[in-house]
Amino acid sequence: MAPLLLLPLLLATLALGATPPHNITTLSSCLTTSSTPFLLPSSPTPLAWTLHATTFNARLPFVPLAIILPTTPSQISAALLCASSLNIPVQAKSGGHSYASFSSGGDALSQTLVIDLENFQDVTVDNTTYIAAVGGGVRLGNLALGIYAQGERALAHGTCPGVGIGGHFTHGGYGYSSRAYGLALEQIVAVEVVLASGEVVTASEEENEDVYWAVRGAADSFGIVTKFYLQTVPAPDVVQFSYDVSGALTSADLATAAFLAVQKFALDASVVTRELGLGVTITATSMAVHGTYFGSISTFEGTVAPALLAALRQAGVRVSTKNSSVQEMSWIESLTELGGEPTLAVPLTGYESRDNFFAKSVSVSQPFAQKPVRAYFDVVVKEGKRAPVDWFAIINLYGGPDSQIGARNESFAAYGGFRDLWVVQNYGSVALNKTFPQSGMAFINKLNDAMTNNMPNYSAYLNYIDPTYTREQAYNLYYGAGLVERLSKLKAVLDPKNIFRNPQSIL
Ligand SMILES: Cc1cc2nc3c(=O)[nH]c(=O)nc-3n(C[C@H](O)[C@H](O)[C@H](O)COP(=O)(O)OP(=O)(O)OC[C@H]3O[C@@H](n4cnc5c(N)ncnc54)[C@H](O)[C@@H]3O)c2cc1C
Ligand SMILES: *[C@@H]1O[C@H](CO)[C@@H](O)[C@H](O)[C@H]1NC(C)=O
Ligand SMILES: *[C@@H]1O[C@H](CO)[C@@H](O)[C@H](O)[C@H]1NC(C)=O
Ligand SMILES: *[C@@H]1O[C@H](CO)[C@@H](O)[C@H](O)[C@H]1NC(C)=O
Ligand SMILES: *[C@@H]1O[C@H](CO)[C@@H](O)[C@H](O)[C@H]1NC(C)=O
Ligand SMILES: *[C@@H]1O[C@H](CO)[C@@H](O)[C@H](O)[C@H]1NC(C)=O
Repeated sequence: MAPLLLLPLLLATLALGATPPHNITTLSSCLTTSSTPFLLPSSPTPLAWTLHATTFNARLPFVPLAIILPTTPSQISAALLCASSLNIPVQAKSGGHSYASFSSGGDALSQTLVIDLENFQDVTVDNTTYIAAVGGGVRLGNLALGIYAQGERALAHGTCPGVGIGGHFTHGGYGYSSRAYGLALEQIVAVEVVLASGEVVTASEEENEDVYWAVRGAADSFGIVTKFYLQTVPAPDVVQFSYDVSGALTSADLATAAFLAVQKFALDASVVTRELGLGVTITATSMAVHGTYFGSISTFEGTVAPALLAALRQAGVRVSTKNSSVQEMSWIESLTELGGEPTLAVPLTGYESRDNFFAKSVSVSQPFAQKPVRAYFDVVVKEGKRAPVDWFAIINLYGGPDSQIGARNESFAAYGGFRDLWVVQNYGSVALNKTFPQSGMAFINKLNDAMTNNMPNYSAYLNYIDPTYTREQAYNLYYGAGLVERLSKLKAVLDPKNIFRNPQSIL
């Protein structure tokens, strides 16, 4: 069926005068001349091609034109010059976890040259500044283990060990420690980046400030980050908690009351400090309030938990003690448990984990009013159990009292979410061997729309990128007009031929 569908599309593209299929012969001879290791669909090692070309999101299996596997920034420079001379689009691939498969081009027809960074795996902590120098292909689990092994250091970042530093750190990056230490992006003190010109530069507050600014929020449009310099902190001890409030899902009213009680607690500056990380997870049959606290268990159990439990009690919500827990653990134990895998260690090559999914987000900078929350739980309670796909939602607290995320603004980085209070993620998936149904897209959209149709203002989270948005919608939801204007001006200077492109990239 696919070729029949593609042929008219291809003809239409050609008729419109778009770029014809790229000449792979010319590209491969250019890459060969520059001694850059690369793979093609026709490579004599078909297994290597399949492994590197397969997208994490099986719903969007875009096929690159070619994949390079460089070992040095200068090989990347050479490849960028080849691509530039042939007008071939380029995207970096770090962990490959893009929700939109942007690291494979993001489009069935784009024929992108992928710069796979799997050989950039260094993690070295400077033992005087505690700044970690980290290769652009390191996955989060290996990052956490690597810096912990060098002086018990930590960084704030997301929970999934297989996610890559390259996409995650340059498009936000939230973990339960982010209220304390900031988003992943905020810990970047410098980057080594290969620009469209082929130049390899270091960018920081002191040099190439525009590159430093743009890469933190829009790296996919501006260059290939080969090395990150990250300010680490001493690893904290953790109190990890989870309170089961699944009983609230008996009615939309009660579930709404439960969420609004959590919100009331979350905004109470007399108990909530940056040491608290908080989220509400929701499925068709479960609802839980969970997170981490960096402090003593006695403070948690004496002050923080009682305020949360009192708010829930006042709302008439019962906490099931059987499925609730409060535990002290080490930083690495906490990350391991949140990661949901037996270990944080991820293989350096041959990573094969996949999912077949569609997800999207809503973020708000003001507290939720009752109406959007009620409309949301109406869908959850009435339709959640007979949804056409498996689904879950997580509502994470980004802002609130003392949050370090909100301590920065857009003059610091090209990131639109510094004012976020809550970020909601709605995530639907099916088995790898199934086709993700249209009705599943509709269900996830319905969950999202239930909130957004009832709110004046909202935006979305850049790391939960939704490929169904037009470029213009994406600009508005992820960046906002002010950021896009400044980014566009820089794009014209730093990447005038627009080689770093995907369906939502900056033009
Ligand atoms: C299972 C799972 C769990 C997740 N959990 C969290 C979470 O807890 N918190 C959170 O905030 N997010 C989370 N995410 C979202 C995640 O942060 C994003 O999908 C992220 O962009 C993935 O980064 P990556 O390097 O793996 O992706 P890739 O697909 O490799 O890259 C994503 C985009 O960034 C570009 N890019 C990658 N590397 C570079 C580089 N070195 N230089 C320039 N551009 C680059 C790519 O070209 C592409 O456009 C999760 C995602 C998944 C699939
Ligand atoms: C590709 O380019 C080469 C040399 O420029 C040429 O000989 C060849 O015919 C081209 N192939 C296609 C499919 O356009
Ligand atoms: C710091 O690192 C240097 C070189 O990497 C090493 O020689 C030195 O012993 C280290 N110092 C400490 C205090 O670990
Ligand atoms: C943004 O942050 C900078 C630096 O911290 C500060 O000088 C500026 O006033 C802030 N701007 C706004 C609009 O808050
Ligand atoms: C699809 O995969 C599931 C496991 O995810 C398996 O149980 C099932 O048998 C598979 N079905 C087919 C038709 O391959
Ligand atoms: C809408 O967004 C603007 C700009 O961020 C903000 O000033 C205003 O308070 C918001 N209004 C509501 C009702 O959330």
